[in-house]
Amino acid sequence: TLSVAGCSLIGSTPAPRLLASSAPLPTPYTVPLPIPALAKPYRSDASADYYELVQRAAEVEILPGLRTPIWGYGGQFPGPTIRARAGRRTVVRVANGLGAPTVTHLHGGHTPPESDGYPTDLVQPGARRDYVFPLEQRAATLWYHDHRMDYTGPQVWRGLAGFFLVGDAEESALPLPSGERDVPLMICDRSFAADGTMPYPARDGGPGAREAFMGGVLGDVILVNGAPWPRLGVDRARYRLRLLNGSNARTYELALPPGGTLTQIGSDGGLLAAPRTLERVRLAPGERADVVVDFAAYRVGDHVELRNLLEEGAQARVMRFTVERDARDDSAIPATLSRVEPLDPAKATVTRDFQFTSGDLHGHTGWMINGKPFDARRVDAKPRLGDIEIWRLTSDVAHPVHLHLAGFQVLSVGGERPSGPAEWKDTVELREAQTVEIITRFTGYRGRYVLHCHNLEHEDMAMMSTFEVV
Ligand code: C2O
Ligand code: CU
Repeated sequence: TLSVAGCSLIGSTPAPRLLASSAPLPTPYTVPLPIPALAKPYRSDASADYYELVQRAAEVEILPGLRTPIWGYGGQFPGPTIRARAGRRTVVRVANGLGAPTVTHLHGGHTPPESDGYPTDLVQPGARRDYVFPLEQRAATLWYHDHRMDYTGPQVWRGLAGFFLVGDAEESALPLPSGERDVPLMICDRSFAADGTMPYPARDGGPGAREAFMGGVLGDVILVNGAPWPRLGVDRARYRLRLLNGSNARTYELALPPGGTLTQIGSDGGLLAAPRTLERVRLAPGERADVVVDFAAYRVGDHVELRNLLEEGAQARVMRFTVERDARDDSAIPATLSRVEPLDPAKATVTRDFQFTSGDLHGHTGWMINGKPFDARRVDAKPRLGDIEIWRLTSDVAHPVHLHLAGFQVLSVGGERPSGPAEWKDTVELREAQTVEIITRFTGYRGRYVLHCHNLEHEDMAMMSTFEVV
């Protein structure tokens, strides 16, 4: 009941496939924006907070009047938001109440290897596992999601993702918008069959089925916090919007046209050194940007649309704010937010090359790093604990590349130094035929982690590599 449109296979580098919905879709900006509930610890002691998230199947109303089966942490999509403190141990017990194995990864977490969600560390149906997050890291907007080898795309599509917000003393001391004016926004796309289900292409659908969506899966409905093109009423005041691209394969260039400004204060790895005023924020899958929007620049009654400049029509729409009332605002955006010490390339012990290309995967076309598909039995790099390294990433088509464990700084894009001061990232978009050099330091833990493409279909079709910190 879903139709597939979009670009055809071009050589061995297919473009993403757009799935067209057959369900009746709501008028944009009629459904209220949901805010995912905060998870509550079931126990806290002097050193840690303990949470339990049960992964289960549920039916939720996403399109008005239709029931959509999902898989969700807590039976919700997005899952409950965990708010944690840097340096305070957070233990998340994930109980698998689904009919398939799962793996949970805290994206952006500085996590010991046994809790990082290595793609073959499965939690079987009926089993549970305690993921331990020491959170020896800066305040940042993180998220958790499924990471099961070969099945991350479908399992995230079904709903296995949620926010994990880390705060710290440095950030709390700043007068940034907080409370109800600190709003996490998970943006992702889905398509809906007439019965409300969100089908995902079957990989065993016959000859060519796999190749047909190996470029990535796109939906035609843009969801924010699980609601289609929602609306949010706001005060004439500053809001902190924690933008997360939780899509499988879609990239956004978010803006408030005409002429609205977004003041970026944070990136994947937490606060920037100083705020930066932007007309648009580009986010590839997995990337985050914390921005402040000052709705006092508008009048009561104004509608402010958040749009994706990369598309036209319905997919260009994301959500809409309506300025509802005057209100007191004690927030401010300080000119200095944090200190971001640039890593020194002269201190790097090695430069490693990673080439992101397509190639042969067991007789099908798949995605490779340095010509090899993911294999959990193989280690492709062994950085030493404490070392600074430069990783040179090269692509044929666009790939959002994500590194586990270690935040990094971008040294060069296409041979040019990025403008502006250093910032901490964990996911970087390689544009078509581009080389990006990143610099990172491996701290905290020895063990096995992955580097992979965060286009989830590329990841599932093997664009992932293991490194082991030794
Ligand atoms: Cu957000 Cu390895 O993933
Ligand atoms: Cu990719």
